Amino acid sequence: IKKIGVMTSGGDSPGMNAAIRSVVRTCAFYKIECAGIYRGYEGMIEGDFIDLNARSVKGIINKGGTFLKSARSKAFRTKEGRQAAYNQLKKANIDALVVIGGDGSFTGGLVFNQEFNFPVMGIPGTIDNDIAGTSHTLGYDTTLNTVVDVIDKIRDTASSHNRLFFVEVMGRDVGHIALNAGVGAGAEEILIPEEDLGLERLLESLRRSKESGKSSSIVIVAEGDKTGKNVFELKDYVEEHLPEYEVRVSVLGHMQRGGSPSCFDRVLASRMGVKAVESLLDGKSNLMVGLMNDKITVTPLERAIKGQSKINKELIRVSDIMSV
Ligand code: F6P
Repeated sequence: IKKIGVMTSGGDSPGMNAAIRSVVRTCAFYKIECAGIYRGYEGMIEGDFIDLNARSVKGIINKGGTFLKSARSKAFRTKEGRQAAYNQLKKANIDALVVIGGDGSFTGGLVFNQEFNFPVMGIPGTIDNDIAGTSHTLGYDTTLNTVVDVIDKIRDTASSHNRLFFVEVMGRDVGHIALNAGVGAGAEEILIPEEDLGLERLLESLRRSKESGKSSSIVIVAEGDKTGKNVFELKDYVEEHLPEYEVRVSVLGHMQRGGSPSCFDRVLASRMGVKAVESLLDGKSNLMVGLMNDKITVTPLERAIKGQSKINKELIRVSDIMSV
């Protein structure tokens, strides 16, 4: 392998820049070339590449987003699109790929490898933490810190007005962000897709907390939760059944994806980039780099995509006990 292409694909996450930096510098360390591919698979199809050296990635370890930009490509789902991408890579003498992204990006990389026998390594970059084979995806830790920080602020105003807040957090169809940020911010209840405890239990818990003298409450709702009601419907439902509560809603949205990566994510990105490049140089392919028990590991891309990232059920119990 003489030249590695690196790209970010799918929803961006804090730490992607740090991972690009690590891939580029590891290439420089081993004296091979590195090219950045703009806008994920879209840019690959168009041949939108830039040669990167160790100095091109200075000053980005602390920056959120991804300077290579990101996209979700429809064209790459077609055979013609992938053929065009392959031609562009060959023209630029790129002979291996590091894809930083989530399961959709890895699926694209896997199909590409199967069709063209092109070496591909994955680095899990998504705030959702919904990838098997790693305890943490890049950006997840930063997002937790951002969410906890914002909920602390919401609590200030909630308690000043004796209000109940429903706070919706991201996570697509998993509850990692909701559960961990919920425990970290001391939420009263946490609604996640993995455990539908039912609306009756929510009312019961809110009744109890009023009785026990709590003046304000925060309920975290994962965007994928399965109660069948969105945050605004939940507000109406609670106001109807528990008129003693004054309820407000806060949907945190895309601010959860931005911001400077935490130290944890910067270190993780640096370690993952080194492992991804070294794996390619060792002749490996179709693997995702991950973190397990503080060790950098590799998992077949196929398993990472199809496997399920499980929430920590102990946290549900801890949360219940904390909201006594
Ligand atoms: O996968 C990351 C994520 O932020 C999810 O949490 C969310 O469901 C989705 O992306 C939002 O996607 P978009 O940025 O396309 O609105």
